[in-house]
Amino acid sequence: MPFARVNGTMLYYREAGEGDLAVFLHGFPLDHSIWLDQLHGLAHVRHCIAPDLRGFGRSDPILEPALSMEVVADDIAALIEALGATEADIIALSMGGYAALALYELRPSMVRTLTLVDTRATPDSVEARAARDALADQLLAGGKTDFASQMFPTLLGPHPSRPTRARLRSMIEGTRYETLVAALEGMKERPDRSVLLPQIAVPTLVVVGEHDALTPPSQARAMAEAIPGARTSVIPGAGHLSPLERPDEVNSALIELLEGRKVVWWREDAE
Ligand code: MLT
Repeated sequence: MPFARVNGTMLYYREAGEGDLAVFLHGFPLDHSIWLDQLHGLAHVRHCIAPDLRGFGRSDPILEPALSMEVVADDIAALIEALGATEADIIALSMGGYAALALYELRPSMVRTLTLVDTRATPDSVEARAARDALADQLLAGGKTDFASQMFPTLLGPHPSRPTRARLRSMIEGTRYETLVAALEGMKERPDRSVLLPQIAVPTLVVVGEHDALTPPSQARAMAEAIPGARTSVIPGAGHLSPLERPDEVNSALIELLEGRKVVWWREDAE
């Protein structure tokens, strides 16, 4: 199983394909497996790597009380170097997007293209910070099963399939308590990176689920408008986890960015 030792910790990653490197950063409270459909669908265009971020999934446990987005960014820079590359296409979901923006701020030359999926550049409001504290307390009191049930409506669109719900529950319930608490703390402390957006000078795609309740399309469009030349792709039917909920549509948007060609998917259940 592939592991890389970076910055004093061991990161697990799953890989597929060959060629130029593309690194997929998962969100909270997830792991690399949120990207399995992208690894499968993009292996013919890139060497795809989906790590379990520090403390998540099969990566080493963490001791830090807060997992800062800058530490995650530093791990990703070290992982890219450990894989023998100097740059990568970065595809990042929600919390992964917070880390991707930190990576761009710290090491812009390592980012060949940037795909920001269901994420934002703005920091937590005072209310959002308090809500994270309450969520951490509820998690420790009630356990991961209740925590997962509570998160489902905010993470998923209106008609999630049973396999989608099953995969999400496995990810949430498979994440260590200390990681969940540390990541909530780290996200709470993240700075405003809106000022970075006009400085982004690589091809950028903003992907957002039509029904994303956490980072809605209006917010995604505003973020894209602040990034020179960025495009927005709104994924019909998806909520906050569009790569899991509508993988074909997300893959075609990614192929269009990475390969510069359009892919049309036909879905039996398309309206
Ligand atoms: C995520 O999907 O990573 C989280 O919803 C991000 C957040 O809680 O801000």
